[in-house]
Amino acid sequence: MSQLLKICNKGELPQAGEAKEFSAGSRTLCIANVDGVIRALDNECPHRGGPLAGGVIEEGKVVCPWHAWAFDAATGVASDSQGRVAVYPVSVEGEAVFVRI
Ligand code: FES
Repeated sequence: MSQLLKICNKGELPQAGEAKEFSAGSRTLCIANVDGVIRALDNECPHRGGPLAGGVIEEGKVVCPWHAWAFDAATGVASDSQGRVAVYPVSVEGEAVFVRI
């Protein structure tokens, strides 16, 4: 069963074109701002565990800082069929930002 977890306040979200790491329960998430749309992905890269939130956003993809695998921020699917990360719905209520895990 899914849970709605608060991850931060609106003011703490990354700026457009940036990503930031937040905790949600026992998970660490990469929260990415893709042209104003907030996306939530698992932070751990399936290649060798790189922290996706330390990467950059390019053309709607979160690019891992370690070896540049690129994950679609909306679907979590990597370019060139290199696997995928889980993505989670994000919602905002007032000042609070939630993910459904
Ligand atoms: S650890 Fe992410 S691309 Fe290698």
